[in-house]
Amino acid sequence: MKKIYILSVLALISSCSAFKASIPYEKEIRFVNLAPGETREDHEKLTKDISIATQGRFASQAAYSIFKKGGNIIDAATTASFVLAVERPQSTGLGGGGFALFHDVKRNKDFPLTVDFREKAPIDAHEKMFLDDKGEVISRMSLDGIFSAGVPGMVAGMLELHKKHGKLPLAMVLKDAIDLARNGFKIYPELAHAISKRENIIKRYKATCEIFCNKKGEVLKEGDLLVQKDLAKTIETISKNGRDGFYKGRIARALVGEHRRLKGLMTQKDLDKYEVKYRTPIRGDYKGYEVFSMSPPSSGGVHIVEILNILRKDDLKTYGLQHSKTVHLRASAMQAAFSDRANYLGDTDFTYVPVTGLTSKKYADDIRFSIPENKALNSLWANMNDPFKFDAKEGRELLKRHESNETTHFTIADGKGNIFVSTQTLNGYLGSGVVVPGTGILLNNEMDDFATKPGANNLFGAVGGEKNLVQPEKRPLSSMSPTIVMKDGKPVLGLGSPSGTRILTCVVQTIMNYIDHNLPLYESMAATRVHHQWKPNILYVEESGLPERTIKELKRMEHEIEYKKLGCRVQAISFEDGMLRGVSDIRGRGLVSGE
Ligand code: GLY
Repeated sequence: MKKIYILSVLALISSCSAFKASIPYEKEIRFVNLAPGETREDHEKLTKDISIATQGRFASQAAYSIFKKGGNIIDAATTASFVLAVERPQSTGLGGGGFALFHDVKRNKDFPLTVDFREKAPIDAHEKMFLDDKGEVISRMSLDGIFSAGVPGMVAGMLELHKKHGKLPLAMVLKDAIDLARNGFKIYPELAHAISKRENIIKRYKATCEIFCNKKGEVLKEGDLLVQKDLAKTIETISKNGRDGFYKGRIARALVGEHRRLKGLMTQKDLDKYEVKYRTPIRGDYKGYEVFSMSPPSSGGVHIVEILNILRKDDLKTYGLQHSKTVHLRASAMQAAFSDRANYLGDTDFTYVPVTGLTSKKYADDIRFSIPENKALNSLWANMNDPFKFDAKEGRELLKRHESNETTHFTIADGKGNIFVSTQTLNGYLGSGVVVPGTGILLNNEMDDFATKPGANNLFGAVGGEKNLVQPEKRPLSSMSPTIVMKDGKPVLGLGSPSGTRILTCVVQTIMNYIDHNLPLYESMAATRVHHQWKPNILYVEESGLPERTIKELKRMEHEIEYKKLGCRVQAISFEDGMLRGVSDIRGRGLVSGE
């Protein structure tokens, strides 16, 4: 249980200038403000039996209602996944994929079940598919349209989990998603923003415009009703026929038919061969806690553990959460991790990833030794083999161009100590923009998470390496980081976030704020976040900022600082003295439900 309310109060008043003079520098903390009209209770809930933190108001309510009808957390997770697919088409959907960690008190004695239902490249995909005759990357080909779509895994993943671990009939669990798709809901600001950003692609595909445009052919706006009748029918078919309702029969024929029509690569064989994979989670220990997170093809777990290892001997608590030393060390550890991400990470079914080395403490100590105490690192230090050597500018432009909050995460825990964390995605806003006619299914654009050629940047400006080149049936590298923190074999905290490469840095900061700085969960999530991904060589700081002295000292260390929305929306639950504290990120419109 968190017992540092004094610190918390000090921290909260630190943004109020009247008190500033009386707060010692090391205790000064800047937080993101609540949106006008919101209260803390809109984002935080203390419950006993069940807690559900998602980015979707309908999803949190529907998952809670299935629990009330006698469902377990896997029933609730299945409901949440399908309702989110309806409610957040900008983030996730039946045409996408994801990862999950599930700690089941009865079964997972050593570590949580770790499930990979990531999309994969079609069998006919190849390394050069996004290059022109001169070997140059064809602009936006991996982001828009049929070639950007990988073979979907979300339906296979959630249905397999439900079949093995759920309690209630599938039809009951999927009913709210069907009803929401059929009856529709009013478009909320975040969704309206995503639709307007993807206006061009929506208008390019008739079946997409039929859903996201009005009768005049204009894209829908905030307050308009979003009805997805075909999607309702598709989910109904799945609720009757299970996995085969999606990967075989009418839906599969429509999906493969659309690929054929648009000269895409996916065939029935791709759907037949889609497999849910069970992975060994990445495991680390940090200051007496055990951290379990997603293994490759996600980079998330490896780098969360790597960053924690690098910083484990530093007395960050004494420095203070937003002291320049703490921020400098966190940023430098992130730089090292992202340099490694570009060099070593890929799908372990296809390429050797030195997971043991990357997550070993000795390796982390070498990195820590080479981080100067008072000087920012440059990209040369991080990786001498970098094809973008000296070219931070290109990465910077790409990162600026694509700002979005795609992908979604939810966390569900019950009073018995079971916890389920899952991050799911279509990749960019509305994925590829292609809706399969007659099905309401938006296809993902996850192929952009491959390196289209070595050194090329993806949607999030991350540099891709050889190990992440496209290969038939390979899964693209991800940053999604569903994570469970345990102590003495019992869960303490479950969390995750959307927002591409920022996911892993937002997750690691939340863990450190909670463990190192002993902040309550809400404050651990509300404190200003920073992000560094090696390329570009910029320290991103959320607009809520850092103490003035911190910024001054960071600049003196030669950090190049840029203020930016990072897009993370952490959804977390902590176990505290027999209670469950659910917090849905203050930056978003998510909801915690439960009792
Ligand atoms: N598509 C975002 C991720 O997988 O990290």
